[in-house]
Amino acid sequence: MNEYISVIRKKLKKKLSESRYEHTLSVSFTCICLAMRYGYPLEKAEIAGLLHDCAKCHPDDSYVRRCEKHGIQITAEEKAAPAVLHAKLGAWMAKEHYGISDAEILSAIACHTTGKPNMGLLDKILYVADYIEVRRDKAENLAKMRRLAFEDLDEALFEIVQGTLSYLKQRGMVTDPMTQKTYEYLLKEREARQDAPD
Ligand SMILES: [Fe+2]
Ligand SMILES: [Fe+2]
Repeated sequence: MNEYISVIRKKLKKKLSESRYEHTLSVSFTCICLAMRYGYPLEKAEIAGLLHDCAKCHPDDSYVRRCEKHGIQITAEEKAAPAVLHAKLGAWMAKEHYGISDAEILSAIACHTTGKPNMGLLDKILYVADYIEVRRDKAENLAKMRRLAFEDLDEALFEIVQGTLSYLKQRGMVTDPMTQKTYEYLLKEREARQDAPD
């Protein structure tokens, strides 16, 4: 195994809860599988998966303070519902505590909770892998999304973001505006794909 991957794993194993570490490994393996399918460097996908929840070693109610301390820009909505901030804080930690400088890895970690308009391939791989990994068992559409992820990554991403938004809205939960922006962007892209001649 690449020595660096093994160093990251050991460090994460110490810092995360057992279930979070299991999820982390599972996401990293799923990222690798999707990277194989869509032609993305496997090691970068593996590292993004491993580190995506590295900030989860800290409690949710400390994210705002930690982001402010490290000069990470946060929005009013993130301040009001800070759970999503483990993504931005995680990207900062990946850089500062794990020595990651690759912009694509840092971007994928930073947007793995809300997505963002115009996501790159690794952003999409990580977002989808986080939803479909093997330890997940709650969402009703998991079987469909697991299949779709390997057939059409863009369609899987669209359906996951759409489903997440409607789940949150139905339950009267806060939706981050970035998730809405991501959805609107993906909807336009999807319409353009469907209108395009074969
Ligand atoms: Fe996460
Ligand atoms: Fe996760």
